[in-house]
Amino acid sequence: MRYSKLFPKTLKEAPHDEVAINAKYLMRGGFIDKLMAGSYTLLPLGWRVIENINTIIREEMNATGAQEVLMPLLHPKDIWNETGRWDEAKDVMYQFEKNEKHFALSFTHEEIVMDLIRKHVTSYKDLPLAIYHFSTKFRNELRAKSGILRGREFMMKDLYSAHATEEDLMKYYWEVADAYLRVFKRVGIDAIITEASGGVFTKEHTHEFQAPCEVGEDTIYIADSWKHAKNDEVMTDGDRTAPGLKAIKSIEVGNIFPFGTAKYAEKMGGMFTDKDGQRKPVWFASYGIGPTRVMGTLVELFHDDRGIIWPESVAPYQVHLIGIMSNESGIKEKADKVYELLTAEGIEVLYDDREDVGPGQKFADCDLIGIPVRLVVSAKTGEQVEWKKRKEEKTELLSIPQILEKL
Ligand SMILES: Nc1ncnc2c1ncn2[C@@H]1O[C@H](COP(=O)(O)OP(=O)(O)O)[C@@H](O)[C@H]1O
Ligand SMILES: [Mg+2]
Repeated sequence: MRYSKLFPKTLKEAPHDEVAINAKYLMRGGFIDKLMAGSYTLLPLGWRVIENINTIIREEMNATGAQEVLMPLLHPKDIWNETGRWDEAKDVMYQFEKNEKHFALSFTHEEIVMDLIRKHVTSYKDLPLAIYHFSTKFRNELRAKSGILRGREFMMKDLYSAHATEEDLMKYYWEVADAYLRVFKRVGIDAIITEASGGVFTKEHTHEFQAPCEVGEDTIYIADSWKHAKNDEVMTDGDRTAPGLKAIKSIEVGNIFPFGTAKYAEKMGGMFTDKDGQRKPVWFASYGIGPTRVMGTLVELFHDDRGIIWPESVAPYQVHLIGIMSNESGIKEKADKVYELLTAEGIEVLYDDREDVGPGQKFADCDLIGIPVRLVVSAKTGEQVEWKKRKEEKTELLSIPQILEKL
C-alpha cells in the first residue's frame, strides 16, 4: 500500500477530550475515527488489525468444531420477554418503538440462539452444537471514557454451545477456555483466567480472561493456593485473607458463561429428545471476546512515547518502507523497486512514497503507526536498505535477499 493513497493520514494531535492512550494513538495513527463517545469507525489500518485478530479467533473457534454464522442485530421485544431480560437488562439495552412495535439493538444473542435451537434441534443426534459470529454489539455504557476499550457500539465474537449433558457442556467449556488462552497468546496477551459474577447473564459464576494492565478498570486477585484468579466483585471476606494474596489491575478481554438449563433452555423451550425418548432441555453456554477491546488493550500494553508497537501477529503491515526522496536522482525509483520486489514476494508493505514530506515527519509517522519493521531507502543507503525493528534502536544495512530471509 502506498501511503500517499492511504485514507486518512496521521494527525498531529488527538482531540482534547480523549484521555485514553489507546484512543489517542489509534486516532492519531489513522486507525480509528471517533463519531461520538463510545462510537468509532475502524479506518483501513484499524480494520486490518481487527481482521488479523479475527482470523486468529476464527482459526481457534473452528478448531473446536464451532461453525460460523451471522445473526440479526435488530431484535423484537417478544423474544427478550421470554427470559425476562427485556426488563432485567433494560439499562444496558437500546430499546425503541417504531410503528407501534418495540425493538432492541443487539447487546448479546443468547435468546436468538435459543430460538434457533428450538426450531432446528430435535434429538440428541443434533447435539452438541456450537455456533459463533462476529458482529456489532450495542450497549448503553455509562462510562464510555476508556477509548476503544469500552464502546457503546463495538465488535464481539460470540460463541454459543448446546449439549445433551452437563458433562459434555463442561468438557467443551474448558476446551473453549484453552482456545481462548491460545487466541490471547497468539495476539500477544498473557491472559489470566479469573472467576467472576455473571451480571445480567447468569446467577452462576463465570470465567473472565483478564489482561494485566495498569489502566484496567478491573482488579483481580491471585493467591498461592488458588487455581484461578478472582475478580474483586466475587471475593468473600475469607478470600481476602488468603496467603500470598496479590492484587492486579487488569482489562477483561474475554468472558465465558456456563448457563446450564434453567435460564434460557427451560424458559424458551430449547428441548431435545434423548436416547431414552425423554424430552429434556439443552445444556447451554456462551463465550465472548471483544476484538476492538483486544486492539485497544494491545495499544495500552505495547507503546512508547512515540507511538504504538504492534505484535507481529496483528500488525496492519509487516514492513513500513520509507523513501527519503532527495534532489539526488534515482532514490524514488530505487524505493519503488524495493516496494515492488517485496510485494511480489508476498510481503505486506506500507510504503511511504510521499514526495512532499520530509524525513522527520516520515520517521515520526512510522513510529506512531508502529509496524514491526522499518526499511529506509535514501541517498546514504547505496545499493542496500536500512533495516530497523520498531522495538529496537539498532539499525543495519542489508541486501534484499537478506531482508527476505529475516522476514
Ligand atoms: N463496551 C464494550 N466495548 C468493547 N468491548 C466490550 C465491551 N463490553 C464487552 N466487551 C468485550 O466483550 C467481551 C464479552 O463481554 P461481556 O462479558 O458480555 O460484557 P461485560 O463484561 O461488560 O458484561 C468482553 O470480555 C470484552 O472483550
Ligand atoms: Mg464480562
